[in-house]
Amino acid sequence: MESSKIRVLALVGARPNFMKIAPLLRELQARERFETTLVHTGQHYDASMSADFFRDLGIPEPDVNLAVGSGSHAAQTAQVLVGIEDLLVAQRPEVLLLVGDVNSTLAASLAAAKLLIPIAHVEAGLRSGDRSMPEEINRLVTDTLSTWCFTTEPAGGANLRREGIAEEKIHHVGNVMIDTLRANQAQANELDTLERLGLEAGGYALLTLHRPSNVDDRDTLSGLFEALEEIHRELPVVFPVHPRTSAAIRDLLGGKEPALQLLEPQGYLDFLRLMSQAKFVLTDSGGIQEETTALGVPCLTLRDSTERPITIEEGTNILVGSHADAVRNAARGILDGETKTGRVPDLWDGRASARIADVLERDLWPTVEARARG
Ligand code: UD1
Repeated sequence: MESSKIRVLALVGARPNFMKIAPLLRELQARERFETTLVHTGQHYDASMSADFFRDLGIPEPDVNLAVGSGSHAAQTAQVLVGIEDLLVAQRPEVLLLVGDVNSTLAASLAAAKLLIPIAHVEAGLRSGDRSMPEEINRLVTDTLSTWCFTTEPAGGANLRREGIAEEKIHHVGNVMIDTLRANQAQANELDTLERLGLEAGGYALLTLHRPSNVDDRDTLSGLFEALEEIHRELPVVFPVHPRTSAAIRDLLGGKEPALQLLEPQGYLDFLRLMSQAKFVLTDSGGIQEETTALGVPCLTLRDSTERPITIEEGTNILVGSHADAVRNAARGILDGETKTGRVPDLWDGRASARIADVLERDLWPTVEARARG
């Protein structure tokens, strides 16, 4: 007998995917018309970059792990492409559910499109306008191949329309990552993260740094560290170091570690605790720009562009760039009391996953029901 459920194959690969898939899986699994399979590509494989997040966020063990690991962009993408094709052929899900913009997302969307399996892309339409960012290429391709483009902010819809994506494919639903943040805030607030690290609420800045544009160039990286060390002399700068950045410190800086408070990558809950109590955050991440806006914590983004303009227009984000002087001046401003207050964008309310499930159920259930009736 044909399945009488809407079969969703959800795919994750790298750290920023995990907090986005968690609330979606929970929502779909709570609805009796859906059946989910979770695939982990294995793009991120260190416990601190992967398993710890599954634990913190209560994500079920993946049904399949493709274990692709690290490699060049071509090698990594190609391995996911081949691995996911076999699974898609075997399972023929009603929909491939993708979140974000990592290499695993790109590869899975290519495989599904060639097999005529419809794609739902969550966090669609974001554009930095900078095609030297690998994520920008990944977003462009995935959006163009998707049947459902779920957007987090109005700019996402505007970008998709400009690129000729049909109106009926675009659904403004809000931000699933903020669903996760709201669901975990109370639990994170119970943690003794600050005490363990010898920090006081509001008495430190939190730093993350991993973009190729910042960490793959020796002069940029050492200039940034110089500015950050200066800030650290006034206010401790706490820095959980991404594996890519550790490698850059080793390879480009000859192992000369910056004089900051260095930490291993943190789990979701500890990091949320650290973010929510920081005086300000310095980052080149995409997601952290949104999380700080949702938390009302000032954020200095160490990039020249952002694909998340609402965090600047409405939120607490300031685009600073990667030049040492700009970073120094922006931090100086905050230390002198110039804080940017913002508001939380529309639909960042903890209910984005439910809106997405509503759309998929409305669009897919009639066919599945008809098939089950034969
Ligand atoms: C990836 C995403 C990026 C996201 C980031 C968050 C792409 C193109 N980039 O970048 O959008 O912001 O994840 O972390 O998909 N490594 C480990 N252990 C791991 C994973 C990686 O040591 O578990 C090291 C390896 O040396 C690897 C390097 O980190 O070569 C980079 O990993 P990769 O997955 O290629 O990209 P990220 O920089 O993590």
